[in-house]
Amino acid sequence: MLILGIESSCDDTAAAVLDSTGIRANIVSSQFDIHARFGGIVPELAARNHIEAVWPVVDEALDKAGIAIDGIDGVAATRGPGLIGSLLVGFTFAKAIALVQNIPCIGVDHMAGHLLSVFLGADQPGFPYIALVVSGGNTSLFKVKNYTTFKMIGRTRDDAAGEAFDKVAKLLDLGYPGGPMVSRYAAGGDGTAMKFPRAWLAEDSLDFSFSGLKTAVANYVHKKRQQKKKIRKKNICASFQEAVVDVLVEKTVRACRLENMQTVVLGGGVAANDRLRQCMSERCRREGLELFIPPPDFCTDNGAMIALAGYHLLQAGETTGPDSDVFSRSPLN
Ligand code: KG4
Repeated sequence: MLILGIESSCDDTAAAVLDSTGIRANIVSSQFDIHARFGGIVPELAARNHIEAVWPVVDEALDKAGIAIDGIDGVAATRGPGLIGSLLVGFTFAKAIALVQNIPCIGVDHMAGHLLSVFLGADQPGFPYIALVVSGGNTSLFKVKNYTTFKMIGRTRDDAAGEAFDKVAKLLDLGYPGGPMVSRYAAGGDGTAMKFPRAWLAEDSLDFSFSGLKTAVANYVHKKRQQKKKIRKKNICASFQEAVVDVLVEKTVRACRLENMQTVVLGGGVAANDRLRQCMSERCRREGLELFIPPPDFCTDNGAMIALAGYHLLQAGETTGPDSDVFSRSPLN
């Protein structure tokens, strides 16, 4: 069975072709250059650029997979959560292909894509597992029972971790997208130089909060600027990153203890962060937990994870009608 997967929830236009043996093509067209000068994503520009990119990206994926559009058995597309204008482009495009080709359309929750992206790599977990999805729009813990059953057990009460990375990068003029830049600066800095706050919340809480940390970094930088003192960007990035990673690792281990689970899976753009990968693996090893992390290309937004989640929904008999709409908030949250 050949599934075409389309992702357009934010600023990447992505398409992939998946068959029963794996990924035949995976194409991502990034809008980094378009949004870089604004220091963040401009929703209207994102939607307009998806319109320009969606057909060429799908065409390239089909071409690389060596098939024509009439060789596809089903088309899966991200239905939400995300920016409404961006979502509408990919989802409407998918519904149109499905109607014209008379094949099923499957609307996929973006979170489900991240929860399952680990199955796109060589190292694959068994069910059930605890998944930490940590991206620009979400920081959530899920209990994953099988390919289509997920239960959210913790989430951020304010900013997502990726959003905090992006805002710290903007504050320090490091460029956009911020996460990879902060991580690069942090690699050359001292993570113990500044003691930024960690929001643990209640003793057994699996929720997150990163707005206090972001404000602490902003206050620190503004004070140094007012005092005309040197801003040690590398140390600030390293200390900020330590604060984020500490909380993500601790809460994930806490989730395993509370839910009596032995397997941890990471997903989402921030899961590409080297320090998070390193600290999570060391801690899981000490706790006797098995850890699975998707290859970095499948941590960030991609069409392959949407095709995979769509394939499993289709197997479960779930398809989406032509009058279905997109959504900005995940029903899984
Ligand atoms: O999953 P994703 O591609 O898009 C969604 O938000 O759904 O994640 C993008 C987020 C951005 O906030 C970006 O700054 C962050 O992931 N990110 C990173 C790294 N690579 C991407 N954050 C920290 N370290 C990284 N290496």
